[in-house]
Amino acid sequence: MMNYSSGPPDTGTQTTDSPAVRAEGLTVVRGPRTVLRGLDFTVPRGQITGLLGPSGCGKSTLMRSVVGTQAKVTGTLDVLGHPAGHPTLRTRIGYVTQAPSVYDDLTVRQNLDYFAAILAPGRAAADRRHSDVTRVIEDVDLTSHADALAGNLSGGQRSRVSLAVALLGTPELLVLDEPTVGLDPVLRRDLWNLFHDITTQRGATLLISSHVMDEAERCHRLLLMREGEILADDTPDALRPRTGSETVEAAFLHLVDEAVAAGRKKETTR
Ligand SMILES: Nc1ncnc2c1ncn2[C@@H]1O[C@H](COP(=O)(O)OP(=O)(O)O)[C@@H](O)[C@H]1O
Ligand SMILES: [Mg+2]
Repeated sequence: MMNYSSGPPDTGTQTTDSPAVRAEGLTVVRGPRTVLRGLDFTVPRGQITGLLGPSGCGKSTLMRSVVGTQAKVTGTLDVLGHPAGHPTLRTRIGYVTQAPSVYDDLTVRQNLDYFAAILAPGRAAADRRHSDVTRVIEDVDLTSHADALAGNLSGGQRSRVSLAVALLGTPELLVLDEPTVGLDPVLRRDLWNLFHDITTQRGATLLISSHVMDEAERCHRLLLMREGEILADDTPDALRPRTGSETVEAAFLHLVDEAVAAGRKKETTR
């Protein structure tokens, strides 16, 4: 499905050794609430990191912080060697929001032409845009639907169009907010296979959120979140034995129980 002729992206010599994302004391306040509470974590390059936790725990807020669209972010947040939101990161990050927008009255190719023109405007870039659009349509396996109106596609095909938009310009970091929500098991599996292809064939870094714990097993690394805090930052293989659990879901529940018990202890000793 994927066919990249180019090697790993040129990330610049001074930044290749640093992690894709490094957060220290990352805090976000939204209205009266502290939504992210002084988080420390890193996202290694060239791997799939899963950001997992129940609805409302702060996954989308964390992702918006990484891509630079979240207000009231404090602490340190470096992305690809620059502070989050730095202008040079714009073309190096691909982002798919939780409610991705594709235009129903445009075809798959027209949607991608439109977003490609925003990324690389001007007549001089026309040839590059055309081949880029053809490549990403191929990457997400929609070549046979390239001329179909987006409004006539199935849910799974629409999410692949959004993913194709994020792949334009071969970004080094892909931030995907719950990309598999509402998809049937077969489509979910296909999409996860595609995510793995993107990391192995292109060396890209993926940060993918989900509230479905079984998806954790497909990630290289996990950030388990609850109520604006990170309960664990580990590999699935290390997490299961560490908590004496058979699945990541059981490990997560174990960590939640521990956190609740620690919270109670704090309350009673106050
Ligand atoms: N506009 C807002 N103002 C204040 N708080 C908000 C706003 N939007 C979301 N929140 C709060 O931020 C928290 C984290 O939300 P979000 O990052 O969307 O979580 P997730 O993506 O994990 O479901 C939620 O508990 C929610 O109550
Ligand atoms: Mg969310």
